[in-house]
Amino acid sequence: MRVLGIETSCDETSAAVVSGTPTAMVIESLVILSQDVHRLFGGVVPEIASRQHLTGIVPAVDAALHDAGVVAGDLDAIAVTYAPGLVGALLVGTSYAKAFAYAHDVPVVPVHHLEGHLFATLLEHEQAAPPFTALLVSGGHTLLLDVPAWGRYTLLGQTRDDAAGEAFDKVAKLLGLPYPGGRPIEQLAAMADRPEHGHAHYFARPMLRRRAVVTDEDYYDCSFSGLKTAVLHAVRKAEQAGTLEQDRASIARGFQDAVIDTLGEKVYRAAKAHRRGRVVLGGGVACNGALQQAIRDRFAGRGGVVFAPSPRLATDNAAMIAAAGLFRAAQGERGAPTFTAVASMPLPGLVADRHAAAD
Ligand code: KG4
Ligand code: ZN
Repeated sequence: MRVLGIETSCDETSAAVVSGTPTAMVIESLVILSQDVHRLFGGVVPEIASRQHLTGIVPAVDAALHDAGVVAGDLDAIAVTYAPGLVGALLVGTSYAKAFAYAHDVPVVPVHHLEGHLFATLLEHEQAAPPFTALLVSGGHTLLLDVPAWGRYTLLGQTRDDAAGEAFDKVAKLLGLPYPGGRPIEQLAAMADRPEHGHAHYFARPMLRRRAVVTDEDYYDCSFSGLKTAVLHAVRKAEQAGTLEQDRASIARGFQDAVIDTLGEKVYRAAKAHRRGRVVLGGGVACNGALQQAIRDRFAGRGGVVFAPSPRLATDNAAMIAAAGLFRAAQGERGAPTFTAVASMPLPGLVADRHAAAD
């Protein structure tokens, strides 16, 4: 099969062509137009995002088809993100995909953005296939899943407040770093070992207790808003003491370590309880090298293999949407002509497991 993917849920206008079978897929082309304009505002401005998708979508699709050396008639399906995301942004992608599908008589398959993030890793690692434990960490979501098969997702835990990426972005703002803040925080945190960067900062790990048991309500959940407040206090204290400049790296490191410890422990608990030998990381925060290393270290010697996407596929892109769409199209799925953009929607096939650890 050959599938054109379209992604416009947030601030990347992206189109890609992916071909193959659900177990062996190849990226034939991938175009990502990142909307840098939002940096000026320190966050995504929905109305501006929609307008930029409108101007970007036609050139993005044309370039993806051109790079792949194909024309519309060579496509077996069009996959498009329909949820969740900014509804005006999603509408540009879904309207375009439906019109394109109608004009060229190709079936269109609506794809859930988070299912796309799960498939991203498969595009680079053929073994990143179910069964596995998944940690989805993006700007809008933090989900811990058990995945016995594609399309079957058991929700083990999630954030009670801010998403992991959102916490990175907010802490970056407090430290005067640009948006999006994940990568700048990672870079700043890497400098914290140098002696000129003041005293090490330690922040309490949210929802990590020593004697946690699986019946605890928060055994698999996380929370990052208290951590963000703790960082705010540390920044204010350093400002008052006149040491902020030298403390910035240490604060960034303290924050990142707290997030990594929490996510690492939760994903380890989930993989152990469900006896999964594979862990798949997905979403923008998954390209954090320190997070990947910490999770790999945790599983080292315990028989667990950790798969993470490269930065280009970890952050929003249309190749992952094409991949999830190819899987669904191969199962005969087709979007109803009435499908439309939805701002908020759970993963298809998601079940909450009340006996999460007893599987
Ligand atoms: O998956 P994504 O591209 O968009 C959403 O679906 O939300 O994720 C974007 C998020 C942003 O919050 C960004 O700060 C974060 O991913 N991010 C990172 C890193 N690179 C991107 N967070 C931590 N470390 C990174 N290296
Ligand atoms: Zn995303």
